Amino acid sequence: MSASKKLFIKTYGCQMNVYDSERMAEALGGKGYVETRSPDDADMILLNTCHIREKAAEKVYSELGRYKDLKAEKPDLKIGVAGCVAQAEGEEIMRRQPLVDLVVGPQSYHRLPAMEDAVRGGAKALDTDFPEDDKFDTLKKRSKAKRGPTAFLTVQEGCDKFCAFCVVPYTRGSEVSRPADRVLREARELVEAGVKELTLLGQNVNAYHGHEQGLAGLIWELDRIDGLERIRFTTSHPNDMDDALIAAHGTCAKLMPYLHLPVQSGSDRILKAMNRKHTAESYIRLIEQIRAARPDLLLSGDFIVGFPGETEADFEDTMALVREVHYGQAYSFKYSTRPGTPAAEKPQLPDEVMNDRLQRLQALLREQQQASQASMVGREVKVLFEKQGREAGQLIGKSEYLHAVYADAPVELLGQVRSVRVVANSPNSLKGELYV
Ligand code: 5AD
Ligand code: SF4
Repeated sequence: MSASKKLFIKTYGCQMNVYDSERMAEALGGKGYVETRSPDDADMILLNTCHIREKAAEKVYSELGRYKDLKAEKPDLKIGVAGCVAQAEGEEIMRRQPLVDLVVGPQSYHRLPAMEDAVRGGAKALDTDFPEDDKFDTLKKRSKAKRGPTAFLTVQEGCDKFCAFCVVPYTRGSEVSRPADRVLREARELVEAGVKELTLLGQNVNAYHGHEQGLAGLIWELDRIDGLERIRFTTSHPNDMDDALIAAHGTCAKLMPYLHLPVQSGSDRILKAMNRKHTAESYIRLIEQIRAARPDLLLSGDFIVGFPGETEADFEDTMALVREVHYGQAYSFKYSTRPGTPAAEKPQLPDEVMNDRLQRLQALLREQQQASQASMVGREVKVLFEKQGREAGQLIGKSEYLHAVYADAPVELLGQVRSVRVVANSPNSLKGELYV
Protein backbone atom coordinates (compact mmCIF):
# COMPACT_ATOMS: atom_id res chain seq x y z
CA MET A 1 0.00 0.00 0.00
CA SER A 2 1.19 3.53 -0.68
CA ALA A 3 2.53 5.61 2.23
CA SER A 4 -0.33 6.85 4.33
CA LYS A 5 -1.88 10.22 3.71
CA LYS A 6 -2.90 12.43 6.60
CA LEU A 7 -6.40 13.58 7.36
CA PHE A 8 -7.29 16.46 9.69
CA ILE A 9 -10.94 16.67 10.67
CA LYS A 10 -12.31 19.58 12.66
CA THR A 11 -15.73 18.95 14.13
CA TYR A 12 -18.29 21.60 15.02
CA GLY A 13 -21.68 21.34 16.66
CA CYS A 14 -23.51 18.37 18.07
CA GLN A 15 -22.52 14.87 19.07
CA MET A 16 -23.96 13.51 15.84
CA ASN A 17 -21.19 15.36 14.06
CA VAL A 18 -18.64 13.75 16.38
CA TYR A 19 -19.98 10.35 15.36
CA ASP A 20 -20.07 11.32 11.67
CA SER A 21 -16.47 12.57 11.78
CA GLU A 22 -15.35 9.23 13.15
CA ARG A 23 -17.18 7.40 10.36
CA MET A 24 -15.77 9.73 7.71
CA ALA A 25 -12.25 9.05 9.02
CA GLU A 26 -12.97 5.32 8.79
CA ALA A 27 -14.30 5.69 5.24
CA LEU A 28 -11.18 7.57 4.17
CA GLY A 29 -9.03 5.10 6.12
CA GLY A 30 -9.84 2.70 3.29
CA LYS A 31 -8.06 5.13 0.96
CA GLY A 32 -4.92 5.10 3.07
CA TYR A 33 -5.65 8.11 5.27
CA VAL A 34 -4.67 8.25 8.93
CA GLU A 35 -5.82 11.03 11.22
CA THR A 36 -3.52 13.82 12.32
CA ARG A 37 -4.08 16.40 15.04
CA SER A 38 -2.66 19.28 13.06
CA PRO A 39 -3.84 20.84 9.81
CA ASP A 40 -0.20 21.73 8.99
CA ASP A 41 0.86 18.22 8.00
CA ALA A 42 -2.48 17.17 6.48
CA ASP A 43 -3.08 16.01 2.92
CA MET A 44 -6.77 16.55 3.40
CA ILE A 45 -8.62 18.89 5.73
CA LEU A 46 -12.30 18.26 6.41
CA LEU A 47 -14.47 20.69 8.33
CA ASN A 48 -17.53 18.90 9.66
CA THR A 49 -19.81 21.84 10.13
CA CYS A 50 -22.88 22.93 12.06
CA HIS A 51 -25.61 25.24 10.77
CA ILE A 52 -27.78 25.52 13.84
CA ARG A 53 -26.89 29.13 14.68
CA GLU A 54 -25.50 32.00 12.66
CA LYS A 55 -22.06 32.15 14.20
CA ALA A 56 -21.46 28.48 13.49
CA ALA A 57 -21.40 29.03 9.71
CA GLU A 58 -19.33 32.21 10.03
CA LYS A 59 -16.71 30.29 12.02
CA VAL A 60 -16.40 27.86 9.14
CA TYR A 61 -15.74 30.59 6.62
CA SER A 62 -13.12 32.21 8.81
CA GLU A 63 -11.47 28.82 9.45
CA LEU A 64 -11.33 28.21 5.69
CA GLY A 65 -9.66 31.58 5.20
CA ARG A 66 -6.90 30.51 7.56
CA TYR A 67 -5.90 27.65 5.23
CA LYS A 68 -5.07 29.96 2.36
CA ASP A 69 -1.33 30.07 3.03
CA LEU A 70 -1.19 26.36 3.74
CA LYS A 71 -2.81 25.57 0.43
CA ALA A 72 -0.43 27.95 -1.37
CA GLU A 73 2.51 26.05 0.14
CA LYS A 74 0.99 22.62 -0.52
CA PRO A 75 -0.95 22.57 -3.76
CA ASP A 76 -1.81 18.88 -3.20
CA LEU A 77 -3.69 19.69 -0.02
CA LYS A 78 -7.40 19.02 -0.49
CA ILE A 79 -9.97 20.89 1.55
CA GLY A 80 -13.49 19.64 2.12
CA VAL A 81 -16.59 20.91 3.90
CA ALA A 82 -18.97 18.35 5.37
CA GLY A 83 -22.00 18.50 7.66
CA CYS A 84 -24.98 20.82 7.81
CA VAL A 85 -23.41 24.00 6.38
CA ALA A 86 -22.29 21.88 3.43
CA GLN A 87 -25.86 20.63 3.02
CA ALA A 88 -27.43 24.07 3.27
CA GLU A 89 -24.92 26.19 1.37
CA GLY A 90 -22.78 23.74 -0.62
CA GLU A 91 -22.87 25.58 -3.91
CA GLU A 92 -22.38 28.95 -2.29
CA ILE A 93 -19.34 27.64 -0.40
CA MET A 94 -17.80 26.46 -3.66
CA ARG A 95 -18.40 29.90 -5.18
CA ARG A 96 -17.42 31.97 -2.19
CA GLN A 97 -14.32 30.00 -1.21
CA PRO A 98 -12.24 28.69 -4.15
CA LEU A 99 -9.96 26.87 -1.68
CA VAL A 100 -12.67 24.26 -1.21
CA ASP A 101 -12.29 21.11 -3.34
CA LEU A 102 -15.05 19.01 -1.90
CA VAL A 103 -18.48 19.50 -0.34
CA VAL A 104 -20.33 16.56 1.18
CA GLY A 105 -23.66 16.60 2.99
CA PRO A 106 -24.43 14.52 6.10
CA GLN A 107 -26.33 11.88 4.13
CA SER A 108 -23.69 11.33 1.47
CA TYR A 109 -20.42 10.80 3.27
CA HIS A 110 -20.26 7.10 2.39
CA ARG A 111 -19.43 8.43 -1.07
CA LEU A 112 -16.31 10.21 0.23
CA PRO A 113 -13.83 7.63 -1.11
CA ALA A 114 -15.11 8.14 -4.66
CA MET A 115 -15.15 11.89 -4.15
CA GLU A 116 -11.56 11.72 -2.94
CA ASP A 117 -10.57 10.04 -6.22
CA ALA A 118 -12.25 12.85 -8.13
CA VAL A 119 -10.50 15.64 -6.24
CA ARG A 120 -7.10 13.90 -6.47
CA GLY A 121 -7.71 13.97 -10.21
CA GLY A 122 -8.03 17.74 -9.99
CA ALA A 123 -11.83 18.00 -10.13
CA LYS A 124 -14.18 19.63 -7.61
CA ALA A 125 -16.74 17.34 -6.00
CA LEU A 126 -20.11 18.24 -4.50
CA ASP A 127 -22.67 15.78 -3.13
CA THR A 128 -25.56 17.01 -1.02
CA ASP A 129 -28.11 14.39 -2.08
CA PHE A 130 -30.39 12.50 0.22
CA PRO A 131 -29.57 9.15 -1.43
CA GLU A 132 -31.79 6.09 -1.29
CA ASP A 133 -28.90 3.83 -0.26
CA ASP A 134 -28.24 3.72 3.48
CA LYS A 135 -24.87 5.25 4.18
CA PHE A 136 -24.42 3.09 7.26
CA ASP A 137 -24.78 -0.07 5.17
CA THR A 138 -22.31 1.11 2.58
CA LEU A 139 -19.71 2.19 5.11
CA LYS A 140 -17.13 -0.33 6.14
CA LYS A 141 -17.62 -2.16 9.40
CA ARG A 142 -16.22 -0.20 12.27
CA SER A 143 -12.61 -0.83 13.08
CA LYS A 144 -11.87 -3.59 15.57
CA ALA A 145 -9.10 -1.55 17.20
CA LYS A 146 -9.36 -1.20 20.95
CA ARG A 147 -11.42 1.84 21.88
CA GLY A 148 -12.03 4.04 24.88
CA PRO A 149 -14.83 3.07 27.27
CA THR A 150 -17.49 5.39 25.86
CA ALA A 151 -18.87 5.70 22.33
CA PHE A 152 -21.62 7.41 20.39
CA LEU A 153 -23.90 5.39 18.17
CA THR A 154 -26.25 7.11 15.74
CA VAL A 155 -29.59 5.28 15.61
CA GLN A 156 -31.85 7.94 14.12
CA GLU A 157 -31.39 10.98 11.94
CA GLY A 158 -33.46 13.85 10.73
CA CYS A 159 -36.49 15.64 12.02
CA ASP A 160 -40.12 16.04 10.97
CA LYS A 161 -41.03 18.48 13.73
CA PHE A 162 -40.29 21.74 11.92
CA CYS A 163 -39.87 24.00 14.92
CA ALA A 164 -40.19 27.45 13.38
CA PHE A 165 -36.60 28.49 14.25
CA CYS A 166 -34.70 25.35 13.27
CA VAL A 167 -32.74 24.33 10.16
CA VAL A 168 -32.37 20.67 11.08
CA PRO A 169 -35.40 19.40 9.09
CA TYR A 170 -33.83 21.03 6.03
CA THR A 171 -30.19 20.06 6.56
CA ARG A 172 -30.69 16.54 7.93
CA GLY A 173 -33.90 15.68 6.13
CA SER A 174 -36.89 13.76 7.45
CA GLU A 175 -36.81 11.27 10.30
CA VAL A 176 -35.10 7.98 9.48
CA SER A 177 -34.34 5.19 11.95
CA ARG A 178 -31.68 2.54 11.52
CA PRO A 179 -33.05 -1.00 11.85
CA ALA A 180 -32.50 -2.44 15.33
CA ASP A 181 -30.50 -5.46 14.10
CA ARG A 182 -27.90 -3.21 12.47
CA VAL A 183 -27.69 -1.01 15.55
CA LEU A 184 -27.30 -4.06 17.77
CA ARG A 185 -24.56 -5.46 15.54
CA GLU A 186 -22.63 -2.22 15.73
CA ALA A 187 -23.19 -2.05 19.48
CA ARG A 188 -21.80 -5.57 19.96
CA GLU A 189 -18.72 -4.70 17.90
CA LEU A 190 -18.14 -1.60 19.97
CA VAL A 191 -18.49 -3.57 23.22
CA GLU A 192 -16.05 -6.21 21.93
CA ALA A 193 -13.61 -3.35 21.26
CA GLY A 194 -13.82 -2.22 24.90
CA VAL A 195 -16.80 0.14 25.03
CA LYS A 196 -18.72 0.11 28.32
CA GLU A 197 -21.08 3.01 27.76
CA LEU A 198 -23.09 3.80 24.64
CA THR A 199 -24.85 7.06 23.92
CA LEU A 200 -27.55 6.56 21.31
CA LEU A 201 -27.79 9.58 19.08
CA GLY A 202 -30.52 11.08 16.97
CA GLN A 203 -31.93 14.53 16.28
CA ASN A 204 -35.17 13.06 17.61
CA VAL A 205 -33.78 9.93 19.16
CA ASN A 206 -36.93 9.08 21.10
CA ALA A 207 -38.92 9.08 17.84
CA TYR A 208 -36.86 5.97 16.96
CA HIS A 209 -38.96 3.39 15.16
CA GLY A 210 -36.33 0.89 13.99
CA HIS A 211 -37.65 -1.48 16.68
CA GLU A 212 -41.33 -2.34 16.99
CA GLN A 213 -41.31 -1.16 20.59
CA GLY A 214 -39.55 2.08 19.73
CA LEU A 215 -36.51 3.40 21.56
CA ALA A 216 -37.47 1.56 24.75
CA GLY A 217 -37.50 -1.71 22.76
CA LEU A 218 -34.00 -0.99 21.46
CA ILE A 219 -32.76 -0.07 24.93
CA TRP A 220 -34.03 -3.35 26.37
CA GLU A 221 -32.22 -5.28 23.61
CA LEU A 222 -29.02 -3.38 24.35
CA ASP A 223 -29.53 -4.11 28.02
CA ARG A 224 -28.93 -7.81 27.22
CA ILE A 225 -25.44 -7.25 25.76
CA ASP A 226 -22.91 -8.58 28.26
CA GLY A 227 -20.11 -6.15 28.92
CA LEU A 228 -22.22 -3.12 28.08
CA GLU A 229 -22.74 -1.35 31.39
CA ARG A 230 -24.36 1.97 30.59
CA ILE A 231 -26.85 3.32 28.07
CA ARG A 232 -27.68 6.96 27.41
CA PHE A 233 -29.58 8.69 24.62
CA THR A 234 -29.90 12.19 23.25
CA THR A 235 -31.67 14.40 22.00
CA SER A 236 -35.32 13.88 22.78
CA HIS A 237 -38.53 15.72 22.01
CA PRO A 238 -41.18 15.93 24.77
CA ASN A 239 -43.92 14.69 22.44
CA ASP A 240 -42.06 11.44 21.75
CA MET A 241 -41.55 10.38 25.40
CA ASP A 242 -43.80 7.33 25.37
CA ASP A 243 -44.86 5.34 28.43
CA ALA A 244 -42.43 2.48 27.73
CA LEU A 245 -39.48 4.87 27.59
CA ILE A 246 -40.59 6.65 30.77
CA ALA A 247 -40.96 3.29 32.53
CA ALA A 248 -37.52 2.14 31.32
CA HIS A 249 -35.98 4.98 33.33
CA GLY A 250 -37.24 3.25 36.45
CA THR A 251 -36.67 -0.37 35.49
CA CYS A 252 -33.65 -0.64 33.19
CA ALA A 253 -30.58 -0.64 35.42
CA LYS A 254 -28.22 0.13 32.53
CA LEU A 255 -30.18 3.22 31.48
CA MET A 256 -28.51 6.15 33.22
CA PRO A 257 -30.57 8.65 35.27
CA TYR A 258 -29.93 11.61 33.00
CA LEU A 259 -32.27 13.07 30.42
CA HIS A 260 -31.80 15.91 27.99
CA LEU A 261 -35.30 17.10 27.21
CA PRO A 262 -35.41 20.55 25.58
CA VAL A 263 -38.46 22.75 26.13
CA GLN A 264 -37.12 25.96 24.47
CA SER A 265 -39.59 28.32 26.18
CA GLY A 266 -41.98 28.43 29.13
CA SER A 267 -44.57 30.60 27.38
CA ASP A 268 -47.48 28.85 25.66
CA ARG A 269 -47.83 31.74 23.24
CA ILE A 270 -44.19 31.40 22.18
CA LEU A 271 -44.30 27.61 22.16
CA LYS A 272 -47.20 27.87 19.74
CA ALA A 273 -45.35 30.37 17.55
CA MET A 274 -42.35 28.02 17.66
CA ASN A 275 -44.59 25.17 16.44
CA ARG A 276 -43.51 23.02 19.36
CA LYS A 277 -46.90 21.31 19.68
CA HIS A 278 -46.75 21.10 23.47
CA THR A 279 -47.48 23.49 26.30
CA ALA A 280 -45.45 24.48 29.34
CA GLU A 281 -47.97 22.64 31.50
CA SER A 282 -47.81 19.40 29.47
CA TYR A 283 -44.00 19.51 29.69
CA ILE A 284 -44.09 19.98 33.46
CA ARG A 285 -46.56 17.08 33.84
CA LEU A 286 -44.26 14.93 31.68
CA ILE A 287 -41.27 15.72 33.89
CA GLU A 288 -43.34 14.74 36.93
CA GLN A 289 -44.12 11.38 35.33
CA ILE A 290 -40.48 10.71 34.47
CA ARG A 291 -39.38 11.72 37.96
CA ALA A 292 -42.01 9.42 39.43
CA ALA A 293 -40.31 6.58 37.51
CA ARG A 294 -36.79 7.73 38.44
CA PRO A 295 -36.76 10.24 41.31
CA ASP A 296 -33.02 10.98 41.15
CA LEU A 297 -33.06 11.75 37.39
CA LEU A 298 -30.84 14.69 36.43
CA LEU A 299 -32.64 16.81 33.90
CA SER A 300 -31.02 18.87 31.19
CA GLY A 301 -32.64 21.24 28.71
CA ASP A 302 -32.26 23.72 25.86
CA PHE A 303 -33.72 27.23 25.84
CA ILE A 304 -34.01 29.96 23.28
CA VAL A 305 -34.46 33.57 24.41
CA GLY A 306 -35.64 36.37 22.15
CA PHE A 307 -37.73 34.34 19.72
CA PRO A 308 -39.59 36.87 17.51
CA GLY A 309 -42.50 38.37 19.43
CA GLU A 310 -41.23 37.27 22.89
CA THR A 311 -42.39 39.81 25.48
CA GLU A 312 -40.99 40.33 28.96
CA ALA A 313 -44.02 38.41 30.28
CA ASP A 314 -43.23 35.47 27.93
CA PHE A 315 -39.64 35.49 29.14
CA GLU A 316 -40.83 35.53 32.77
CA ASP A 317 -42.86 32.41 31.94
CA THR A 318 -39.62 30.72 30.87
CA MET A 319 -37.95 31.75 34.14
CA ALA A 320 -40.98 30.43 36.06
CA LEU A 321 -40.81 27.09 34.24
CA VAL A 322 -37.10 26.78 35.03
CA ARG A 323 -37.80 27.53 38.70
CA GLU A 324 -40.53 24.91 38.78
CA VAL A 325 -38.66 22.15 36.94
CA HIS A 326 -35.15 22.68 38.34
CA TYR A 327 -32.45 21.65 35.89
CA GLY A 328 -29.19 19.95 36.80
CA GLN A 329 -27.66 21.34 33.65
CA ALA A 330 -28.84 23.26 30.58
CA TYR A 331 -27.93 25.06 27.38
CA SER A 332 -29.40 28.44 26.49
CA PHE A 333 -29.11 30.45 23.32
CA LYS A 334 -30.08 33.78 21.87
CA TYR A 335 -32.48 33.30 19.01
CA SER A 336 -30.57 33.32 15.73
CA THR A 337 -32.30 33.89 12.40
CA ARG A 338 -31.88 30.95 10.06
CA PRO A 339 -32.62 31.67 6.42
CA GLY A 340 -35.41 29.52 5.04
CA THR A 341 -37.09 28.86 8.39
CA PRO A 342 -40.60 30.27 9.08
CA ALA A 343 -39.43 32.46 11.98
CA ALA A 344 -36.91 34.22 9.75
CA GLU A 345 -39.79 36.16 8.18
CA LYS A 346 -40.78 37.72 11.51
CA PRO A 347 -39.47 40.97 13.03
CA GLN A 348 -36.48 40.36 15.25
CA LEU A 349 -36.00 41.60 18.83
CA PRO A 350 -33.22 44.08 19.58
CA ASP A 351 -29.92 42.47 20.51
CA GLU A 352 -29.78 44.29 23.89
CA VAL A 353 -33.08 42.72 24.90
CA MET A 354 -31.86 39.26 23.95
CA ASN A 355 -28.53 39.76 25.76
CA ASP A 356 -30.26 40.91 28.91
CA ARG A 357 -32.66 37.93 28.92
CA LEU A 358 -29.90 35.47 28.17
CA GLN A 359 -27.86 36.76 31.09
CA ARG A 360 -30.78 36.48 33.49
CA LEU A 361 -31.68 32.99 32.32
CA GLN A 362 -28.10 31.79 32.44
CA ALA A 363 -27.65 33.15 35.97
CA LEU A 364 -30.67 31.14 37.10
CA LEU A 365 -29.57 27.99 35.28
CA ARG A 366 -26.04 28.32 36.73
CA GLU A 367 -27.49 28.66 40.20
CA GLN A 368 -29.54 25.50 39.69
CA GLN A 369 -26.59 23.58 38.29
CA GLN A 370 -24.46 24.60 41.28
CA ALA A 371 -27.22 23.64 43.72
CA SER A 372 -27.58 20.28 42.00
CA GLN A 373 -23.82 19.65 42.12
CA ALA A 374 -23.53 20.83 45.72
CA SER A 375 -26.24 18.34 46.69
CA MET A 376 -23.98 15.54 45.44
CA VAL A 377 -21.31 16.22 48.09
CA GLY A 378 -21.26 13.37 50.61
CA ARG A 379 -23.12 11.05 48.24
CA GLU A 380 -21.89 7.88 46.59
CA VAL A 381 -21.79 7.88 42.79
CA LYS A 382 -20.65 5.27 40.31
CA VAL A 383 -17.93 6.58 38.03
CA LEU A 384 -16.84 5.12 34.71
CA PHE A 385 -13.19 6.18 34.51
CA GLU A 386 -12.38 7.45 31.00
CA LYS A 387 -8.96 9.10 31.13
CA GLN A 388 -6.06 10.22 33.24
CA GLY A 389 -6.33 13.56 34.99
CA ARG A 390 -3.90 16.45 34.83
CA GLU A 391 -2.30 15.51 38.15
CA ALA A 392 -0.34 12.29 38.52
CA GLY A 393 -2.35 9.41 39.94
CA GLN A 394 -5.66 11.00 39.08
CA LEU A 395 -8.40 9.57 36.87
CA ILE A 396 -11.43 11.35 35.41
CA GLY A 397 -14.74 9.84 34.51
CA LYS A 398 -18.48 10.41 34.53
CA SER A 399 -21.00 9.73 37.22
CA GLU A 400 -24.30 8.11 36.28
CA TYR A 401 -25.67 11.69 36.22
CA LEU A 402 -23.00 12.74 33.70
CA HIS A 403 -21.03 14.85 36.17
CA ALA A 404 -17.32 14.92 35.46
CA VAL A 405 -15.72 13.36 38.55
CA TYR A 406 -12.03 13.15 39.32
CA ALA A 407 -10.40 10.99 41.95
CA ASP A 408 -7.05 9.53 42.93
CA ALA A 409 -7.16 6.07 41.44
CA PRO A 410 -4.76 3.53 39.92
CA VAL A 411 -4.52 3.59 36.13
CA GLU A 412 -5.77 -0.02 35.98
CA LEU A 413 -9.23 1.33 36.77
CA LEU A 414 -9.46 3.06 33.40
CA GLY A 415 -12.51 1.68 31.61
CA GLN A 416 -14.08 0.43 34.84
CA VAL A 417 -17.02 1.59 36.92
CA ARG A 418 -16.23 2.20 40.57
CA SER A 419 -18.04 3.60 43.60
CA VAL A 420 -16.79 7.02 44.58
CA ARG A 421 -17.75 9.29 47.46
CA VAL A 422 -18.14 12.89 46.35
CA VAL A 423 -16.08 15.13 48.63
CA ALA A 424 -16.10 18.52 46.89
CA ASN A 425 -17.83 20.50 44.20
CA SER A 426 -16.13 22.87 41.76
CA PRO A 427 -17.82 24.79 38.91
CA ASN A 428 -17.51 22.11 36.25
CA SER A 429 -16.63 18.94 38.09
CA LEU A 430 -16.87 16.98 41.30
CA LYS A 431 -14.00 15.65 43.38
CA GLY A 432 -14.37 12.13 44.66
CA GLU A 433 -12.64 9.51 46.78
CA LEU A 434 -12.61 5.86 45.83
CA TYR A 435 -14.30 3.46 48.22
CA VAL A 436 -11.77 0.78 49.04
N1 5AD B 1 -31.49 30.05 17.26
C1 5AD B 1 -31.06 29.75 18.51
N2 5AD B 1 -31.00 28.52 19.00
C2 5AD B 1 -31.39 27.51 18.20
N3 5AD B 1 -31.45 26.18 18.40
C3 5AD B 1 -31.90 25.61 17.28
N4 5AD B 1 -32.13 26.53 16.32
C4 5AD B 1 -31.83 27.73 16.88
C5 5AD B 1 -31.88 29.07 16.42
N5 5AD B 1 -32.32 29.37 15.20
C6 5AD B 1 -31.13 25.56 19.68
C7 5AD B 1 -32.33 24.83 20.27
C8 5AD B 1 -31.99 23.38 20.05
C9 5AD B 1 -30.49 23.40 20.15
C10 5AD B 1 -29.80 22.24 19.57
O1 5AD B 1 -30.12 24.57 19.46
O2 5AD B 1 -32.41 25.14 21.65
O3 5AD B 1 -32.59 22.52 21.00
FE1 SF4 C 1 -34.96 21.37 15.33
FE2 SF4 C 1 -37.31 21.19 16.60
FE3 SF4 C 1 -36.42 19.15 15.10
FE4 SF4 C 1 -35.22 19.72 17.44
S1 SF4 C 1 -37.35 19.04 17.18
S2 SF4 C 1 -34.20 19.27 15.48
S3 SF4 C 1 -35.35 21.95 17.51
S4 SF4 C 1 -36.99 21.17 14.38
